[in-house]
Amino acid sequence: MIRKIITYPDPLLTQVAKSVIHITDEIRTLLNDMAETMYAGEGVGLAAPQVAVGLRAIVIDVDVEAGEKGPGLLKMVNPEIVAGDGEIEWEEGCLSVPDFRIKIKRKGHLRVKYLTENGEEIFLECEGLLAVAVQHEIDHLDGKLIIDDASRLKRDLYRRKLRKKHTEDIDF
Ligand code: NI
Repeated sequence: MIRKIITYPDPLLTQVAKSVIHITDEIRTLLNDMAETMYAGEGVGLAAPQVAVGLRAIVIDVDVEAGEKGPGLLKMVNPEIVAGDGEIEWEEGCLSVPDFRIKIKRKGHLRVKYLTENGEEIFLECEGLLAVAVQHEIDHLDGKLIIDDASRLKRDLYRRKLRKKHTEDIDF
Protein backbone atom coordinates (compact mmCIF):
# COMPACT_ATOMS: atom_id res chain seq x y z
CA MET A 1 0.00 0.00 0.00
CA ILE A 2 1.34 3.40 -0.96
CA ARG A 3 1.56 5.68 2.05
CA LYS A 4 1.50 9.46 2.15
CA ILE A 5 4.94 11.08 2.20
CA ILE A 6 5.12 14.01 4.58
CA THR A 7 7.15 17.02 3.49
CA TYR A 8 9.19 19.90 4.92
CA PRO A 9 8.45 21.72 7.20
CA ASP A 10 6.39 18.96 8.91
CA PRO A 11 7.77 18.78 12.49
CA LEU A 12 7.61 14.95 12.44
CA LEU A 13 10.60 15.04 10.07
CA THR A 14 12.77 16.63 12.75
CA GLN A 15 12.17 13.99 15.44
CA VAL A 16 14.67 11.27 16.31
CA ALA A 17 13.18 7.87 15.41
CA LYS A 18 13.09 5.03 17.95
CA SER A 19 14.83 1.67 17.55
CA VAL A 20 12.67 -1.27 16.52
CA ILE A 21 12.51 -3.72 19.43
CA HIS A 22 10.51 -6.57 17.87
CA ILE A 23 10.33 -7.20 14.14
CA THR A 24 6.67 -8.03 13.75
CA ASP A 25 4.36 -8.48 10.75
CA GLU A 26 3.44 -4.85 11.25
CA ILE A 27 7.10 -3.87 10.68
CA ARG A 28 7.30 -6.12 7.60
CA THR A 29 4.15 -4.49 6.21
CA LEU A 30 5.63 -1.07 6.93
CA LEU A 31 8.81 -1.99 4.99
CA ASN A 32 6.79 -3.32 2.03
CA ASP A 33 4.63 -0.19 2.00
CA MET A 34 7.73 2.00 2.19
CA ALA A 35 9.27 0.19 -0.82
CA GLU A 36 6.07 0.62 -2.82
CA THR A 37 5.91 4.30 -1.83
CA MET A 38 9.58 4.82 -2.76
CA TYR A 39 9.12 3.26 -6.22
CA ALA A 40 5.93 5.25 -6.81
CA GLY A 41 7.82 8.44 -5.99
CA GLU A 42 10.81 7.36 -8.13
CA GLY A 43 13.16 7.72 -5.19
CA VAL A 44 16.19 5.56 -4.40
CA GLY A 45 15.54 5.50 -0.67
CA LEU A 46 12.89 6.17 1.96
CA ALA A 47 12.96 6.33 5.75
CA ALA A 48 10.00 5.50 8.04
CA PRO A 49 9.70 9.08 9.42
CA GLN A 50 8.90 10.20 5.85
CA VAL A 51 5.66 8.21 6.08
CA ALA A 52 5.08 9.60 9.59
CA VAL A 53 6.31 6.50 11.46
CA GLY A 54 8.96 7.31 14.08
CA LEU A 55 10.88 4.02 13.86
CA ARG A 56 14.41 3.23 12.68
CA ALA A 57 13.57 1.51 9.39
CA ILE A 58 14.69 2.40 5.87
CA VAL A 59 14.42 1.01 2.34
CA ILE A 60 16.91 1.60 -0.45
CA ASP A 61 17.15 0.55 -4.09
CA VAL A 62 19.95 2.19 -6.07
CA ASP A 63 19.78 -0.20 -9.02
CA VAL A 64 18.47 2.60 -11.21
CA GLU A 65 22.13 3.71 -11.15
CA ALA A 66 23.97 0.46 -10.43
CA GLY A 67 21.94 -1.71 -12.84
CA GLU A 68 22.22 -5.48 -12.65
CA LYS A 69 25.33 -5.26 -10.48
CA GLY A 70 23.34 -3.55 -7.72
CA PRO A 71 22.06 -5.21 -4.55
CA GLY A 72 18.38 -4.65 -5.43
CA LEU A 73 15.89 -3.68 -2.77
CA LEU A 74 17.39 -3.39 0.72
CA LYS A 75 15.18 -3.25 3.80
CA MET A 76 17.14 -2.16 6.86
CA VAL A 77 15.94 -2.18 10.43
CA ASN A 78 17.98 -0.27 13.03
CA PRO A 79 20.75 0.61 10.53
CA GLU A 80 23.96 1.84 12.06
CA ILE A 81 27.20 3.02 10.44
CA VAL A 82 30.02 1.14 12.14
CA ALA A 83 32.93 2.35 9.97
CA GLY A 84 33.45 4.91 7.24
CA ASP A 85 36.15 6.67 5.29
CA GLY A 86 36.84 8.57 2.09
CA GLU A 87 34.65 11.28 0.65
CA ILE A 88 31.99 11.56 -2.01
CA GLU A 89 30.00 14.55 -3.19
CA TRP A 90 26.56 14.02 -4.69
CA GLU A 91 23.78 16.37 -5.69
CA GLU A 92 20.94 15.07 -3.54
CA GLY A 93 17.22 15.46 -3.61
CA CYS A 94 14.62 14.16 -1.15
CA LEU A 95 11.01 13.04 -1.53
CA SER A 96 10.21 15.07 1.62
CA VAL A 97 11.83 18.23 0.24
CA PRO A 98 10.28 18.50 -3.24
CA ASP A 99 11.91 20.63 -5.93
CA PHE A 100 15.10 21.12 -3.93
CA ARG A 101 18.60 19.84 -4.72
CA ILE A 102 21.89 20.39 -2.94
CA LYS A 103 25.45 19.09 -3.23
CA ILE A 104 26.47 17.31 -0.03
CA LYS A 105 29.83 15.79 0.93
CA ARG A 106 29.59 12.46 2.72
CA LYS A 107 31.72 9.42 3.50
CA GLY A 108 32.57 7.61 0.28
CA HIS A 109 32.83 4.15 1.76
CA LEU A 110 31.15 2.68 4.78
CA ARG A 111 30.21 -0.42 6.65
CA VAL A 112 26.63 -0.52 7.84
CA LYS A 113 25.13 -2.93 10.35
CA TYR A 114 21.39 -3.64 10.25
CA LEU A 115 18.69 -6.23 10.80
CA THR A 116 16.77 -7.75 7.90
CA GLU A 117 13.00 -8.06 8.03
CA ASN A 118 13.59 -11.56 9.41
CA GLY A 119 15.78 -10.30 12.23
CA GLU A 120 19.07 -11.47 10.72
CA GLU A 121 22.07 -9.24 11.49
CA ILE A 122 23.93 -8.09 8.36
CA PHE A 123 27.14 -6.14 7.82
CA LEU A 124 27.22 -4.50 4.39
CA GLU A 125 30.02 -2.61 2.66
CA CYS A 126 28.70 0.40 0.74
CA GLU A 127 30.23 2.85 -1.70
CA GLY A 128 29.08 5.35 -4.33
CA LEU A 129 25.36 6.06 -4.54
CA LEU A 130 24.58 3.30 -2.04
CA ALA A 131 26.83 4.93 0.58
CA VAL A 132 25.17 8.29 -0.11
CA ALA A 133 21.68 6.78 0.21
CA VAL A 134 22.44 4.98 3.49
CA GLN A 135 23.78 8.19 5.05
CA HIS A 136 20.85 10.26 3.71
CA GLU A 137 18.28 7.80 5.12
CA ILE A 138 20.00 7.47 8.51
CA ASP A 139 19.97 11.28 8.68
CA HIS A 140 16.16 11.05 8.38
CA LEU A 141 16.12 8.69 11.38
CA ASP A 142 18.03 11.33 13.32
CA GLY A 143 15.61 14.08 12.29
CA LYS A 144 17.95 15.68 9.79
CA LEU A 145 17.02 16.87 6.28
CA ILE A 146 19.17 17.91 3.31
CA ILE A 147 17.78 21.42 3.62
CA ASP A 148 19.53 21.69 7.01
CA ASP A 149 22.80 21.80 5.08
CA ALA A 150 21.68 24.72 2.93
CA SER A 151 22.67 28.30 3.60
CA ARG A 152 20.08 30.47 5.32
CA LEU A 153 19.54 32.34 2.06
CA LYS A 154 18.87 29.15 0.12
CA ARG A 155 16.47 27.94 2.86
CA ASP A 156 14.57 31.26 2.85
CA LEU A 157 14.26 31.14 -0.93
CA TYR A 158 12.90 27.61 -0.71
CA ARG A 159 10.34 28.57 1.97
CA ARG A 160 9.18 31.47 -0.19
CA LYS A 161 8.86 29.13 -3.18
CA LEU A 162 6.75 26.72 -1.07
CA ARG A 163 4.42 29.49 0.08
CA LYS A 164 3.96 30.71 -3.48
CA LYS A 165 3.22 27.19 -4.67
CA HIS A 166 0.62 26.68 -1.96
CA THR A 167 -1.14 29.90 -2.91
CA GLU A 168 -1.21 28.87 -6.55
CA ASP A 169 -2.53 25.45 -5.60
CA ILE A 170 -5.79 26.81 -4.17
CA ASP A 171 -8.68 25.98 -6.48
CA PHE A 172 -11.92 27.95 -6.39
NI1 NI B 1 15.19 12.03 1.92
